[in-house]
Amino acid sequence: MAAYLLGIDVSTTATKALLVDAQGEVVAVAATEYPFDTPHPLWSEQDPVVWWYAAVQSIRDLLARTAVAPGDIAAVGLTGQMHGLVLLDETGAVLRPAILWNDQRTGEQCDEIRARLGKDRLIQLTGNDALTGFTAPKILWVRQHEPQVFARAKRFLLPKDYLRYRLTDSFATDCADGAGTLLLDLASRSGSRAMLEALELPTDFLAPVYEGPQITGHISATAAAATGLREGTPVVAGGGDQAAGAVGVGAVREGIVSLALGTSGVVFATVNAPYFEPEGRLHAFCHAVPERWHLMGVMLSAAGSLRWYRDTFAPGTAYDDLLAPAEAIAPGSEGLLFLPYLTGERTPHPDPLARGAFVGLTVRHTMPHLTRAVLEGVAYGLRDSFELMKGVGLRAIEQVRVSGGGARSPLWRQILADVLDTELVTVNTSEGAAYGAALLAGVGAGVWPDVETACEACIRVTGSTAPRLAAVDRYEAAYIAYRGLYPALKASFVELAHF
Ligand code: XUL
Repeated sequence: MAAYLLGIDVSTTATKALLVDAQGEVVAVAATEYPFDTPHPLWSEQDPVVWWYAAVQSIRDLLARTAVAPGDIAAVGLTGQMHGLVLLDETGAVLRPAILWNDQRTGEQCDEIRARLGKDRLIQLTGNDALTGFTAPKILWVRQHEPQVFARAKRFLLPKDYLRYRLTDSFATDCADGAGTLLLDLASRSGSRAMLEALELPTDFLAPVYEGPQITGHISATAAAATGLREGTPVVAGGGDQAAGAVGVGAVREGIVSLALGTSGVVFATVNAPYFEPEGRLHAFCHAVPERWHLMGVMLSAAGSLRWYRDTFAPGTAYDDLLAPAEAIAPGSEGLLFLPYLTGERTPHPDPLARGAFVGLTVRHTMPHLTRAVLEGVAYGLRDSFELMKGVGLRAIEQVRVSGGGARSPLWRQILADVLDTELVTVNTSEGAAYGAALLAGVGAGVWPDVETACEACIRVTGSTAPRLAAVDRYEAAYIAYRGLYPALKASFVELAHF
């Protein structure tokens, strides 16, 4: 009986294919890397056809690495980088390079969207403010700057949905990724007529929207010939990389929060209703789990801050050696605070001009104090996202599931548990969004009845870090001091930008 599941992640740096069995064990992984282009300052683009060739290569490599017959793959789940704009003409041909999530060219179009809707109505409809990374402002940019291209555009797709089109010949998206376009109605989890009308976009510009585990099409004969997959294999909607990543660590019900400590730091909280932060300081998207939504805070330099610090002040030093002396420093680093805004910030201060800082240096401070202050500063910045979430409907946080490179440090995990005053746990899975996509495929194929059951069957807690009372109190005071810093320094950041 067919009992394997294929997850495919179209990320910014590679397309990864991951095969898991019906117990959730990883059978094989293959990835094909690619670069992205920055043809002008602030621009970030990729040719969608590259994703297709990378997917073909990765699926072929994956199949070659296992004895699993393509006919035994019950379903395919897709995930990928969110927000990217792929414009297609009426024949389905790509009209221009995809404009990616980290492209920053659309400041003016974000203002235009706020002006057309009014910021409050925009947030009420979509759950979000207009951010340069989102898809709708990109569509407006093409309409304004490349009218000949736009005149030929029939519809747009998100990155993983372009791969879906190549695999199944069908146009579809899922409501988690769809919410990141700014064209979905958050509450009804479907295309927003009000948004499309306000932006003067045709109603069929957005692909039909499905729930994460729903089947959207089947592998076509052409795609089967290219990839080696069986023609007719079902393909489920899947989810944007953040939602699928949350499924991949089991953050699928209210109370369980995922904290991904990679270059960026993402706090992802599942909620049971379409809550949003009234000023749009958190992202509010649909989850890849039916009838669930999520709030999300994104810190741009989390483990990225530690990497910068190591590379600048202790190049070549192993992280373990760098962090060990910081363990002996008392919580609060003797009044030294670090602001982690090294690449500007998204949450809670959506400010590209925000900068990093050490504040409170005295002659008593040594390198281990600075190291600890970096770990603590990132923890305070992540706590900002938790505080915003508590203010908008997240009732209780039972457990925080940490993943990503930064979470490998026991010291950083302890600091985070103390600063957040919450138990932190690690889990047995480490394949992130591709793993979540495979579980969603399993639900679509009937291996598990729903996403929660799939996660319970496959994902186990492997370790935990409890908050320590004395440190919690100390960090409470330090966090209050940290919160005062951004407002105090904001004007200076603007001035410094002129240099
Ligand atoms: C989410 C976001 C990124 C991209 C790239 O809002 O911008 O996580 O999905 O991975």
